[in-house]
Amino acid sequence: MLISNKVKAGLEASAWAIRMFDDLSRDDAKETFDFRLGNPEIPPPALFFEELKKAVNNSPEGLHQYSPLGGHTRARDAVANTLTKKKGLPFTARHVVMTSGGAGALNIILKAILNPGDEVLVLAPLYLEYPYYIENHGGVCLTVETNEDFTLNVDAIAARLSPRTKAIIVNSPNNPTGAIYSEASLKSLAKRLEERGRKFGSTIFLIYDAAYEDIVYDGVQLPEIFKIYKNTILAASFSKPLSIPGERIGYAAVHPEMDNAEELADALTFTNRVLGYLSAPVLMQHVITHLQGVRVNLAEYQERRDMFYDALKSFGYSLLRPQGAYYLFPKTPVNDVTFMQELAKEGVLVNPGSSLGRSGYLRIAFCKKKETIQKSLPGFKKVMDLFR
Ligand SMILES: Cc1ncc(COP(=O)(O)O)c(C=O)c1O
Repeated sequence: MLISNKVKAGLEASAWAIRMFDDLSRDDAKETFDFRLGNPEIPPPALFFEELKKAVNNSPEGLHQYSPLGGHTRARDAVANTLTKKKGLPFTARHVVMTSGGAGALNIILKAILNPGDEVLVLAPLYLEYPYYIENHGGVCLTVETNEDFTLNVDAIAARLSPRTKAIIVNSPNNPTGAIYSEASLKSLAKRLEERGRKFGSTIFLIYDAAYEDIVYDGVQLPEIFKIYKNTILAASFSKPLSIPGERIGYAAVHPEMDNAEELADALTFTNRVLGYLSAPVLMQHVITHLQGVRVNLAEYQERRDMFYDALKSFGYSLLRPQGAYYLFPKTPVNDVTFMQELAKEGVLVNPGSSLGRSGYLRIAFCKKKETIQKSLPGFKKVMDLFR
């Protein structure tokens, strides 16, 4: 075998969900309702298309060339101004590096901070790419369970902190649970990170994965992590707020009051280069410069969340109403893979919780057409009736 052992193991661990879809569409004439990927079917806001047309028609100098490695100053200035207003801290372009999506941001951050063997804590259930991203850069991924209701278990986190801990990744609103961590729990986490950092003579970074920061429901206010913990590094993305994941645009940002903030920002520019991203997509850098604060209509998602949640509840599913992001995470009355396979027979495709660090659950991405959700409901009911 020519490919590496690690990659072979990764292929085997994660390719089955995609294969299952192929098999169904080949062998079975039934319609499929695919809720596996957080790939939004709600179109980008009209303003996105306006700015896209403007950028193409005006064709500013260098539109199709590399940008400076950290991104165009205008894009970084625009992002820094937004961050300054939102987080009440003095961000400048110097603290911001434009990236190839949130995934690019996470990778350049991990590459910039990890020495071989350094540990990074992730909270389960989790975004399934974290362990791969950490391993990409020589880190060791340690998983800590959240509580039964998906709130932070700060004692469990503190118990895993050691002199080898380099960072913890915090994703709120959370994929896959939809949970938003409370201000009190984040403050208590920050206190423990500070205490342990002091004891070990190290800095423990909090990498805030803000992929869903703008997708919140019922007018909930997100606690401001930057105000709570100084050693925070932000991995942000326009994929979800603007419904443009295929355009691959995001950014990393360093807390302006962190010690050595500029050295870390320089490191992020360097890792953006040596990981081969070079510069974030330049057309998109131009577009997002003029789309600060713009996002998809949240009412569209909230309507889907409520419709789907109410239907599943009435069928006997046990689940929490997500406070943010766009996933439902119900319990399964039997093994999650068995339940998922029965749903697949009805053409309903979901992810088993066991592939996301918590078995006995399903992840259902509801960023899909309303019609798809409606048509899938009899399948969800039938399978629950089978096992109840
Ligand atoms: C929790 C989380 N983080 C990061 C990402 C990466 O997003 P992107 O690279 O499209 O910005 C995703 C994508 O689904 C995600 O769910």
